[in-house]
Amino acid sequence: MASICAILNVDKSSTRLDRERMTQEISRARTAAKVEAVGLDFGTTNSAIAIVGPDGSPRLARFPAAERGDVSETFRSILFFEAVEETGGTDSAVSVGNDAIRRYLAAAGNGRLVQSLKSFLADKTFESTDVMGETYTLGDLIAPIISALRDAAIAQFGELPPRIVVGRPVHFAAAGNPDEALARSRLDIAIRRAGWTDVVFEYEPVAAAYDYALRITRDETVLIADFGGGTSDFSVLQLKPRAAAKHGAARYEILGNDGVGIAGDAFDSRMMRHLVAPALGRGTKYRSPYGMVLPAPTWPYTNLERWHHLSFLKARATMLKFDELKRESFEPEKIAALIHIVENDLGYFLFRAVEKTKLELSALEAADFMFSDPPVLIERIVARPDFENWIARYLEQIAGCVDRLMKTVALKPDAIDSVFLTGGSSFVPAVRRIFIQRFGADRIRMGDEFTSVARGLALRALDVTD
Ligand SMILES: Nc1ncnc2c1ncn2[C@@H]1O[C@H](COP(=O)(O)OP(=O)(O)OP(=O)(O)O)[C@@H](O)[C@H]1O
Ligand SMILES: [Mg+2]
Repeated sequence: MASICAILNVDKSSTRLDRERMTQEISRARTAAKVEAVGLDFGTTNSAIAIVGPDGSPRLARFPAAERGDVSETFRSILFFEAVEETGGTDSAVSVGNDAIRRYLAAAGNGRLVQSLKSFLADKTFESTDVMGETYTLGDLIAPIISALRDAAIAQFGELPPRIVVGRPVHFAAAGNPDEALARSRLDIAIRRAGWTDVVFEYEPVAAAYDYALRITRDETVLIADFGGGTSDFSVLQLKPRAAAKHGAARYEILGNDGVGIAGDAFDSRMMRHLVAPALGRGTKYRSPYGMVLPAPTWPYTNLERWHHLSFLKARATMLKFDELKRESFEPEKIAALIHIVENDLGYFLFRAVEKTKLELSALEAADFMFSDPPVLIERIVARPDFENWIARYLEQIAGCVDRLMKTVALKPDAIDSVFLTGGSSFVPAVRRIFIQRFGADRIRMGDEFTSVARGLALRALDVTD
């Protein structure tokens, strides 16, 4: 495994102009500051890293964006193993972030894309995974992503201190029985392997509160809600404006924290179930070998809902089962479409189409869903209320968690001065509505959706003393 970082691919595809612009920015930043504190937000979908220099303001490291020539303050928490021919056999090369996506698209299904790694941290049943004949632990998979973030921060800001403050959800999520201590220690291992020696954890919504404190002008009781890809996390704090409170201990008092393992990935899985799975044969009937009419088995569609598990179906035994199912199916063209998706590793493209529709539904009352890879064509218009019905159970669980926290801190909604909503899934109107209904629209604040946690973690790191 020592080779995994060594063979990490650097992004060679950015344009010359892009590189020049980044180089200029980097040299400006490096001359400007000595880094005093660093914060790392390792997210289920997106990660970010921020520093604080002598001026006391947080600054984010930048990365080449998905669109060539652009830069981004977030880094996709994604990994791609690509099969490469070496003398004497096939080996795998690893790439991370947008580079991983570019290589995946260029490799036409030849390799393995891994994402939402954070969701496995608390999963006791995940010990390791095999990729192209090699065994990888979670630390092996996460460390290259964190190393890339660290390298970018060093290139841009210069040497980093040995201490890092790292975000964590209030409750690490996992199917079954999550193991919090295991999750923390696995993340700790990955961060140390990336080069830090002093690792401090902080709740992600508390970090977002540090960022929010830059905006307020008077003492406030605030509810912070961070909706990401894997978890939704909440904190209630008494917060002072950053300008008014010079010392860590005086800046805030935490009244309570809570969280739930439901967020953007869970919304995507509901869209897969209701929008995509029926077109691939979910709910159709087939004639069993004993002549009985039975519903198609559900397990292929469970894998579809966690689209990155789809590649596990591409085993010979499974494909034979699909062929048999197609022969006996009352709607064989739908099973044929499922076979086409699995055989051609189209899980990521399906997920992209689903996510695009979800994002559009945050801004529009209805959005098109279209997935085309001949002969498979799935097309449908999704109205926002359809989407809201599909995720209704999850919205209830999120609202239940907010109500539970308000009960724990023994505050009436009127006692909350402002509600700060952050994280990518806070754009979902039905999520915002939970807070509007309870606290009123005029108390809702939004902003820095993808970076407030990293900025806040860097500010928090200034307060950590030995
Ligand atoms: N406009 C939007 N409407 C709805 N969902 C969105 C929008 N933009 C992003 N998302 C969703 O937000 C999620 C990513 O948000 P974010 O980057 O805050 O998560 P994360 O920090 O990686 O996850 P976590 O905090 O759970 O570890 C994804 O599920 C993405 O699909
Ligand atoms: Mg997050």
